[in-house]
Amino acid sequence: MRTRPLKVALLGCGVVGSEVARIMTTHADDLTARIGAPVELAGVAVRRPDRVREGIAPELVTTDATALVKRGDIDVVVEVIGGIEPARTLITTAFEHGASVVSANKALLAQDGAALHAAADEHDKDLYYEAAVAGAIPLIRPLRESLAGDKINRVMGIVNGTTNFILDKMDSTGAGYQEALDEATALGYAEADPTADVEGFDAAAKAAILAGIAFHTRVRLDDVYREGMTEVTASDFASAKEMGCTIKLLAICERAADGGSVTARVHPAMIPLSHPLASVRGAYNAVFVESDAAGQLMFYGPGAGGSPTASAVLGDLVAVCRNRIGGATGPGESAYAALPVSPMGDVVTRYHISLDVADKPGVLAQVATVFAEHGVSIDTVRQSGKDGEASLVVVTHRASDAALTGTVEALRKLDTVRGVASIMRVEGE
Ligand SMILES: NC(=O)c1ccc[n+]([C@@H]2O[C@H](COP(=O)([O-])OP(=O)(O)OC[C@H]3O[C@@H](n4cnc5c(N)ncnc54)[C@H](OP(=O)(O)O)[C@@H]3O)[C@@H](O)[C@H]2O)c1
Repeated sequence: MRTRPLKVALLGCGVVGSEVARIMTTHADDLTARIGAPVELAGVAVRRPDRVREGIAPELVTTDATALVKRGDIDVVVEVIGGIEPARTLITTAFEHGASVVSANKALLAQDGAALHAAADEHDKDLYYEAAVAGAIPLIRPLRESLAGDKINRVMGIVNGTTNFILDKMDSTGAGYQEALDEATALGYAEADPTADVEGFDAAAKAAILAGIAFHTRVRLDDVYREGMTEVTASDFASAKEMGCTIKLLAICERAADGGSVTARVHPAMIPLSHPLASVRGAYNAVFVESDAAGQLMFYGPGAGGSPTASAVLGDLVAVCRNRIGGATGPGESAYAALPVSPMGDVVTRYHISLDVADKPGVLAQVATVFAEHGVSIDTVRQSGKDGEASLVVVTHRASDAALTGTVEALRKLDTVRGVASIMRVEGE
């Protein structure tokens, strides 16, 4: 056992950082035994130095994060500030000054992952970020290491706890979106400004990271199709129930059937109640992985929160420290496959479309003709109506998103179609 401690600089001491510091202290002996050397908290960078921070010696606290990462004696920088800047510059500065980096920053990794990996490689340092996707759930390392000998075809997951809490509430109580959001806010599951969660930005960042790792291909945030869940209604849930489904906000990363391209997308979708993801309740996360050799795998657990996220950060910290002692680095970016990322129009799936139509003879035939003209084959149609107005629910067989978009545009032009009430993709069958 070496006795010189490995020095850790903690950038950020909020929800996650404070838990990282706590576990480093309370589990110090175990961490020392597992790493083969003691780990020492050498400095903690924050924005507001005067806040009381339990368990952290005041002399460790600084507002000068740049000076901390430039010290030269830091072995590992743990970045849990979040956002793009100053996190990005601090991470690259850390590499330049000899430190490896552990980060929980999905937004930064999704936007600048390639450049950060290049900077880590240039300086022969590690960049680990298990906590950036699905909090405590081991996912990055299983995809990057355990499944490195397999071929992953699909990664489909619930990677945002706030939206799953809201949708689960709507499903179990019949509440509308706003009512469920209000409850999520009151219970602390949703932030005062929930945009990043409910509009799917957070999940899209995670989808970009997962797709990149799963398919050994660079997938940028801009490559990810994104649709939020604010338009999901109680009546969508009623329709889903009639089909034996529920509704989840899903991040879906797929390899095309011919293997020549990939897609990444985030949107609400109906999934059958028999699918393992349908049983993910409350703010929990889960990711379903399909691969050639392993078949179907499911990763499940808490996707956020200080202590769960700190667990993932500490796992990375131990791995990086071990690498450091062994004079090695762990796996870096793997983008050798360089597959093209196809646009949303190429995605093939099933659709549930709800139309408000005039209740008169011939309307069904007119609607069916539009579907046929666009090459979208209908699986089932359900019609209900009164007082001259009717509702038509069409469930299609698998069709491309481009074909479905063309169908819906043409339907909107029919005099007998009063409106397209909802379009929902059907996944997981
Ligand atoms: N919270 C979760 O459940 C969760 C889950 C997974 C991943 N993450 C990721 O973990 C990261 C941290 O999230 P969090 O929830 O812990 O955030 P947070 O509670 O807002 O904490 C951010 C910390 O960074 C410090 N900070 C902000 N700007 C700084 C600057 N310019 N220089 C130095 N320190 C600065 C803040 O200082 P003060 O304390 O002085 O304000 C605070 O300690 C983010 O990337 C987030 O996406 C969070």
